Amino acid sequence: MNQAFRSITFALLLASASLSYGQLEGSKPDTQPVNHPVPAIQDTETPAQRDARMQWWREARFGMFIHWGLYSIPAGEWHGQRTTHIGEWIMNDLSIPVADYKAFAKDFNPTGFSAHDIVALAKSAGMKYIVITSKHHDGFAMFDSKVDPFNIVAATPFKRDPLKELAEECRKQGVKLGFYYSQAQDWTAPGGAAAVRGNHNPDTGHWDPAQDGSFDDYLHKKSIPQIKELLENFKEYPVVVWFDTPTKAMTPERAAEVVTLLNQHPNLIWNNRLGGTYKGDTETPEQFIPPQGYPGRDWESCMTMNDTWGYKSFDTNFKSTETLLRNLIDIASKGGNYLLNIGPDSYGIVPAPEVERLQQMGQWLKINGEAIYNTNATLFDVPTGTFAGEKDSHGHEKFVPNWNWRSTTAPNKIYLEIFQWPTGSFHLDKLPRNVTSAYLLADKAHKPLKITKVGEGLDITLPAQPLDPIATVVVLNTN
Ligand code: GLC
Repeated sequence: MNQAFRSITFALLLASASLSYGQLEGSKPDTQPVNHPVPAIQDTETPAQRDARMQWWREARFGMFIHWGLYSIPAGEWHGQRTTHIGEWIMNDLSIPVADYKAFAKDFNPTGFSAHDIVALAKSAGMKYIVITSKHHDGFAMFDSKVDPFNIVAATPFKRDPLKELAEECRKQGVKLGFYYSQAQDWTAPGGAAAVRGNHNPDTGHWDPAQDGSFDDYLHKKSIPQIKELLENFKEYPVVVWFDTPTKAMTPERAAEVVTLLNQHPNLIWNNRLGGTYKGDTETPEQFIPPQGYPGRDWESCMTMNDTWGYKSFDTNFKSTETLLRNLIDIASKGGNYLLNIGPDSYGIVPAPEVERLQQMGQWLKINGEAIYNTNATLFDVPTGTFAGEKDSHGHEKFVPNWNWRSTTAPNKIYLEIFQWPTGSFHLDKLPRNVTSAYLLADKAHKPLKITKVGEGLDITLPAQPLDPIATVVVLNTN
């Protein structure tokens, strides 16, 4: 038994009798209901209705985030200055005047964009849904909007509607489609909110008089009408609306106006970033995996592959396939979803390192997907890392994961995703269920592995080499 496994054994010995660590406990709300000006679906539906509404999403586990917009033209650099921040924020971070930013539109001609290829890429990665930026904080709509001409059909030589093309392809290829929409921040529409950065106006966050105006006008003339277009013009899509950065502008009364619209689409799933005290359906940890998930809440970690959401030509800091895959497994073992981002360039091309990693993840999932899709959180009360005693850049307590193994569950099975292959046997100190037999998921013959009961625990005899160096899955049949 190597060091890592000895420490797991130790942790198991310390573990309390309860084996419900990190489990998503059905649909119990974690807080008292809030008195909203307009009740949202989450305030009124029964737990059974909620389970039915969330079912496909809970089964899916893995989705594709797409950040794509005009910011892919500067690609992180404007007038010789490189932004150190995420690419889609370049207008704000470099204080680009509204007219200059809007002028990118006439050069936006992403003829390399293929909805077919992007949906096929998501599929080959094993992703079950896509969420794409329909309008980011820069205010540029990536769809044919009749409400505002600053959009990809009316303002560019491209003239095509990528959201419509994606909707058609998703329908054909059986992938679900959701839309990200920046409901409060809008840096090119008068009155739109702006998060305060640098030496911008400390109240409004604005840096150009063209941004000044009434937020309510913006909300009523652009934001809400565009959300309505998105909800009504794409047939069965979107199945998810992904709001972002509500800012203080989204008061309960303003958010309630959006909720009135959302309520007309009873199957819709929307996240916790609408604002105005609405909690939505899903927690959205950004760029991190919560150490214990969010017991009682659905949740989705959204992450980049490098350090930006929107394309930056010089960001090559890509995570390895090993890290990405282990993140997915870690998230599934805590009952959450992984929304992993791609950032196409100004031609509409997905950067090669992103394609390569997604395809590699898909190869693993093709063989081992049973251990991820439609599974529940771990039944083992084993810490998946340690708190470092300091905060990370997002203000969360820094958690250093250990990468030895994780577990997911199905009604009659326990899956052990093993990262660090032990010599001889894998030992569990305590069993949450009775184990009848074991095999390796990647072994087509499902040849039984030798299992030996040891006290309350189990020894599983393993071959000398793992079947996959990133993660090899042991399946325990249980009753
Ligand atoms: C942040 C950023 C935004 C990005 C989002 C993704 O809130 O403002 O640019 O779209 O995270 O989660």
